[in-house]
Amino acid sequence: MDFEVLNGLLRPKSVAVIGASNTPGKIGYLAVKNLIDCNYPGRVYPINPKEAKIQGLPAYPSVLDVPGEIDVAMLIVPAARTIAVTEECGRKGVKGLIVVASGYSEIGRKDLEDELVATARRYGMRLLGPNIVGIMCNSDKCNASFGPFMPLPGKAAMISQSGALLIAMTVASYVRNVGFDKMISVGNMADVNFGDLVEWLDQDAQTTCITIYVEGFQNGRRFLEIARRAHKPIVALKSGVSAHGAAAAASHTGAMAGKGKVYDAALQQAGVVRASDLNNLFDRTLALSLQPPMAGSNLMIISNGGGVGVLAADAAERYGIPLRFAPDDLQAALRAYVPEIGSVKNPADLTGMGGWPEYLATVKTALQHPWVHGLVVLFCETQRNDPMDIASAIKRAVDESGVTDKPIAVSFIGGAEAERAMKWLVENGLPTYGAPDIAVNAIAALHEYAQMHGIGRDGEPVTEEFTPYCDVDADAARAIIAQARATGRVYLSEIESKKVFAAYGLPVAVTELAKTEDEAVQLAETMGYPVVLKIMSPDILHKSDAGGVKINLRSAEDVRAAYRAILASARAYKPDARIEGVAVQQMAPSGTEVILGSINDPTFGPTVMFGLGGIFIEILKDVTFRVAPISAEHALAMLADIQGAPLLAGARGEAPRDRIALAEALSRYSQMIMDLGDEIAESDANPVLVYAEGHGSKVVDARIILR
Ligand code: ACO
Repeated sequence: MDFEVLNGLLRPKSVAVIGASNTPGKIGYLAVKNLIDCNYPGRVYPINPKEAKIQGLPAYPSVLDVPGEIDVAMLIVPAARTIAVTEECGRKGVKGLIVVASGYSEIGRKDLEDELVATARRYGMRLLGPNIVGIMCNSDKCNASFGPFMPLPGKAAMISQSGALLIAMTVASYVRNVGFDKMISVGNMADVNFGDLVEWLDQDAQTTCITIYVEGFQNGRRFLEIARRAHKPIVALKSGVSAHGAAAAASHTGAMAGKGKVYDAALQQAGVVRASDLNNLFDRTLALSLQPPMAGSNLMIISNGGGVGVLAADAAERYGIPLRFAPDDLQAALRAYVPEIGSVKNPADLTGMGGWPEYLATVKTALQHPWVHGLVVLFCETQRNDPMDIASAIKRAVDESGVTDKPIAVSFIGGAEAERAMKWLVENGLPTYGAPDIAVNAIAALHEYAQMHGIGRDGEPVTEEFTPYCDVDADAARAIIAQARATGRVYLSEIESKKVFAAYGLPVAVTELAKTEDEAVQLAETMGYPVVLKIMSPDILHKSDAGGVKINLRSAEDVRAAYRAILASARAYKPDARIEGVAVQQMAPSGTEVILGSINDPTFGPTVMFGLGGIFIEILKDVTFRVAPISAEHALAMLADIQGAPLLAGARGEAPRDRIALAEALSRYSQMIMDLGDEIAESDANPVLVYAEGHGSKVVDARIILR
């Protein structure tokens, strides 16, 4: 991304409004009016073929008639006319286009959109939109949009895929008391997209937090890489779920992925903080834009009422930062300001006796104590106290503490006086909310951000850097796939699938095809008893239903009898079935059943899934996803993500399962689906049996569906 080119587009020094109008209510009228009303210091050039003046400013028939340079042209003429206008902009040397006009890919006119982008590219212009509201920037006094209001000034930057929502958020920002420096509408993202904007905002001096409303990314993987590298917190509200949903899915993994779980995983991997709804987006933006990350999990709560303290403690547990008792020396230090009837444990309860001097002293003491990583201060408006006194005491305590690397969130519960004090606190850099659980949720956002980015994370940091395994045989895997394709198939047989898995070092149960009874015996003798025999036929998918599976065969006689029985039942089940032979497989000892799966997600590409087998996947849908590839360490953390994780850790007296071996298998699998991403659509190893620690795991069945 070229920072300077985007600067020209997003911080223009001159704006031409093509389609500027004198007719009140028209979008071309609003755009000019907004630039005038916001006291935009740059040059504004209204373009209109019929008018000499637009709202008092000299107008020009075309950008080519404008005497000065033009950084940005807003295209507010019907879509069909935008190509010709773009040509003129290119010839004029305009740097960037804000295409407000609708009528492109969103209504099936992708051709027009492509032509628009191609024309802009020919002249080296970047393009925001089409189908957008425009851009707003408080620090540049620039409202190049048809949204009538600039947002409340602040430090966040909002990127929205919905134009209407963006306009609504400008007004809501005043009511919610959450400030934004910039708001950018991205619409169809024909050229400039989320990734470009995050990269640019990450370098923007006025932005401390990037807030996004996203319906879908265009190049999910690129966004992930940019987001992961960003130095500023990103908070996202994602709407909708992935389109390739359950119905079209040919595998367990595909069905599970249809619930937006891939987005959840991808955004988590990218270190993006999530918001659960619009209110939560505002609340989390406020905290992330004003406060530092919470570099540890010791949250202290100070209140003047037991009830709100308990509500906050409940919320802390709900949002992943359960309270711990304050250490003895901190309790002793707080005791000097807390009456005997109050508590110093955590939450610290100053009781109704607590006034501004107690808030000042306890907030300062807590912030300065090394055990505390973050602070939530609660105040119930009582007759004894003026909320403004409490607010100034909190602010003074923060300033006097000299602590700048620990976050603080505040909640005042009360009436109009409390509201005024809360507004003052926000204006002074302290995120303040009307309910204790919201304050805790906001500080949890700072904790999540820190945890995802390894800032004071609990325990050892996870190595997420993936180093490819060298002992894999991609050529062998590709040869197997090519052979299957040569016979016109878009799937691999169980034996072929297992060979591909084995080529990547996954521990598959050895399986070979026997075409005769003798061959079956020979294979069994080589592998060692006991063995399993399974029918191999492209026309029989459910082998057990066809009487096509015999297990625990312990001798040559067993194998011969099983071979004959399988063929007989398969023929009876489906007389015209094409029978390739019988698979002979080492019989794996029983173990904990898990499933490894993969899909090629339309947004994020190859993605792995992990879950426990049986009812855990069928009924509980207890699975977790990661965008591939993932390191073995990362895979180990992934195993702990599912609700059934204790079963692997060794629940109810069972020996812990070999999670190290399983994690390596998962990591190797992630490499396999990356390397073969151009070939594999979906795959799974199901079941994989996991044994006690030190005894590894075994892939018992596998399948691969080609793209
Ligand atoms: N150069 C300059 N001006 C021109 C040109 C040209 N080549 N051709 C026409 N004009 C003038 C017109 O004469 C007119 O001026 P006037 O009011 O003096 O007559 C003006 O440009 C606008 O042209 P119209 O044909 O009147 O178009 P109109 O204003 O009705 O619609 C618009 C144009 C707004 C771009 C419309 O086509 C459109 O796309 N609307 C939807 C936009 C939108 O909502 N985008 C955001 C989506 S997000 C959300 O939903 C909030």
